[in-house]
Amino acid sequence: MIIKSATFICSNTKLAPLPVANMPEYAFIGRSNVGKSSLINMLVNQHGLAKTSQRPGKTQLINHFLINEKWYIVDLPGYGYAKVSKNSREKWEKFIRNYITKRESLQCVFVLIDSRLEPQKIDLEFCCWLGECQVPFALIFTKADKQSAVKTDQNVAQFKKALQGWFEEVPPYVVSSAEKGQGRDEVLKFIEDINQHFVMPILVPKETPEY
Ligand code: GTP
Ligand code: MG
Repeated sequence: MIIKSATFICSNTKLAPLPVANMPEYAFIGRSNVGKSSLINMLVNQHGLAKTSQRPGKTQLINHFLINEKWYIVDLPGYGYAKVSKNSREKWEKFIRNYITKRESLQCVFVLIDSRLEPQKIDLEFCCWLGECQVPFALIFTKADKQSAVKTDQNVAQFKKALQGWFEEVPPYVVSSAEKGQGRDEVLKFIEDINQHFVMPILVPKETPEY
């Protein structure tokens, strides 16, 4: 897919004012600092579109970006940031879980996993929760430029093995590097295929649903 335009549309702390759910939408989620915003910038080839930071917890809002005037990328705040208070963590959970389970136009959640790490409980639990909710998801193993391909393969294999206990079929996955552009074509192709089969959701009773 050729990216002709990528535009920031809005940031929200609440779900009610989200854009009307009339275009296919893809959310990027994962632990704080895993590289969600960097990956989005790499995909759309626009450095600085999504704000990135070396410090975890940079993305605090739910950010919509309109791509080619036809589909949305959503950059979400990360999970698992130790410095966040229990209260705001609970708020985050409710907010994200509501978004993921209720957003009619959400086609796929990309769960980003740090390719340098062995399977982390928090990531596995999040994948299992998506499975329980029957939300389609795919894995993206990030920061592959930071270690050898052998090490990445080992961690990917371990993660897949851990998921096999829970899922009949392991979800699709891509290995990526925002630095090197690795995984870009695969992710865009994956999105393009889904976009072709997008059916407009029936939005009742209002254009924007109550969350
Ligand atoms: P939060 O918004 O805080 O949840 O973080 P995030 O998941 O959006 O991460 P972000 O994209 O801000 O990246 C965090 C740090 O990792 C930044 O310093 C990035 O430059 C770095 N980073 C992200 N992706 C890659 C990658 O593929 N390779 C390398 N080497 N560094 C990366
Ligand atoms: Mg971010």
